[in-house]
Amino acid sequence: MIRKDRHNFHETTKDSRERWESNADYWDAWMGDNSNFFHCNVVRPHTEELLDIREGDLILDIACGNGNFSQRAAEKGARVVAFDYSEKMIAHAKKRRYSFLDRISFHVCDATSRRELMNLEQNQPFDKAVANMAFMDIADIKPLLHAVSDLLKPGGTFVFSTHHPCFARPDDTYLTARFHEGIGIRGQPVLQLYYHRSLQDIFQTCFQAGFMIDGFYEEPDDDREYPVIIIVRVKKGR
Ligand SMILES: C[S@@+](CC[C@H](N)C(=O)[O-])C[C@H]1O[C@@H](n2cnc3c(N)ncnc32)[C@H](O)[C@@H]1O
Repeated sequence: MIRKDRHNFHETTKDSRERWESNADYWDAWMGDNSNFFHCNVVRPHTEELLDIREGDLILDIACGNGNFSQRAAEKGARVVAFDYSEKMIAHAKKRRYSFLDRISFHVCDATSRRELMNLEQNQPFDKAVANMAFMDIADIKPLLHAVSDLLKPGGTFVFSTHHPCFARPDDTYLTARFHEGIGIRGQPVLQLYYHRSLQDIFQTCFQAGFMIDGFYEEPDDDREYPVIIIVRVKKGR
């Protein structure tokens, strides 16, 4: 299934969430306590370099899955507010990160809902935000980028990673935004929905939300000439 009418994207959130609920147990078992090889070796190194977690940072972990990175940030001394729209995923996160719940609060929240996102506001602005391998799973990133901009302190940073849209795409088109069914982990119970956006779509949405880009990696996996993901740091103006 490939669709290109971007006006319908937001309406697919319910379908997308139900698919993640169906895959949550399988995903959690696959990722385990410490996450998989791809996350640890391809996603994490430059993400951690760009995020530069400091003792006492208040960090928003967006679409946190089973909370593996939330724990990682807590171990480095951060306080973390983490969320995912899958109730089952958040239940797994709370169970796995049981001994970190004094430093991590987990919430069920839809990243396409500005109202739900703004409910995550704390009594101080966030220092940093992170979204590991999630933009390609989120039906509409505009509300998220605007809300994160509002929730961050001036000069605050947001690091996100997602499929490299030039290399990981559903067909021969590139500029047209579209969504399609796909597989994240071999053997998962149901297909999930992926949302393809060009680099200019992603970056324009960042600029419109008041961010500038100040860090960017294209990260390969086995084939060293073929970047499969991008890792981006954007910074809120002062
Ligand atoms: C590929 S997983 C990544 C999870 C985690 N960040 C990690 O790196 O292990 C994508 C996650 O995005 C979540 N997700 C997708 N759309 C979402 C939305 N609209 N709001 C909140 N979470 C969403 C899914 O439930 C899933 O847990």
